[in-house]
Amino acid sequence: MVPQPIAWSPTGGLRVLDQRALPETCVERDLETIADVAEAIRTLQVRGAPLIGIAAAMGLVAGLRTIRSAPRETFVAQLDEAIAMLADTRPTAVNLRWALERMRRAAGSPGDGDLLWARLKSEADAIWTEDRAMCRRIGLAGLPLVPDGAQVLTHCNAGALATGGIGTALAPIYLAHEAGRKLHVYVDETRPLLQGARLTAWELGRAGIQCTVIPDGAAAALLASGRIGLVIVGADRIAKNGDFANKIGTYGLAILAQHHRIPFYCAAPRSTIDCATASGGAIPIEHRSPAEVTAYHDAWNPAFDVTPARYVTGFITDRGVERPPFGAAE
Ligand code: MRU
Repeated sequence: MVPQPIAWSPTGGLRVLDQRALPETCVERDLETIADVAEAIRTLQVRGAPLIGIAAAMGLVAGLRTIRSAPRETFVAQLDEAIAMLADTRPTAVNLRWALERMRRAAGSPGDGDLLWARLKSEADAIWTEDRAMCRRIGLAGLPLVPDGAQVLTHCNAGALATGGIGTALAPIYLAHEAGRKLHVYVDETRPLLQGARLTAWELGRAGIQCTVIPDGAAAALLASGRIGLVIVGADRIAKNGDFANKIGTYGLAILAQHHRIPFYCAAPRSTIDCATASGGAIPIEHRSPAEVTAYHDAWNPAFDVTPARYVTGFITDRGVERPPFGAAE
């Protein structure tokens, strides 16, 4: 059973699994207001590109439920304010903006507060449900790439904890395991916040999938050892030309994989593809507090880097595996 990082609370609030506390403790938090949801996304209580889109959409519904009987103008003004606040929480993952734009469009047609709120609720549920289905399709598209006996390297957490379903990079791994294939997943610990060591290793362990955490700096030696047949990572934003942003360290892994002639795949739903961004240089990279790296020294702490398209063997998406040349997708 994969973990469920998000749900409606019994009172209609947003219930999230606080990922900062994992794997030591499973703390669930009920978020009632837009400010609560914004804070939860900013502080990585909920994280991962698809999940922050889902959380923002469901958060709008939860936060605006108290004003649902307001006149249309009041409701729309509050909705726009809420969307602006949520959009401002994290800059790199395009899924956040994609989900918020979808929610704004759902509230676009005539109606009073009650009707608009009901439309927002069904749109948020649709975003959540569709993401679950997309994860499965990504898993099916990537399944032939993970044969029996596969040894796979991944980075950060692009699993169930980052999505509404079985993840993106981890989806083919979950389905290969379900199909009875023997696998071993190596997981970069993913400094500085250890999403690999804390989250990916935890969810794979719960599913009974064999995994080993490695220090980020050990990836070169591991790939040189000849043990790894495949690298799969997720993405926060894929530019039109196939350059993509993912957790800091992904770019280095792509170069290492190419050097060692090991296939390097990026798995993501279509909502992560941003055709309005021509290439990786235009992707906004989040810089986080130096304190995440060290409390004692100055630090450079970009949360994501951009991997040039030339290092990508293929994108595993909900529509199949896309191979170079990239740029045709709309
Ligand atoms: O800072 P995070 O933990 O939100 O970063 C997450 C990643 O980089 C994931 O690999 C990416 O969002 C894909 S999640 C399916």
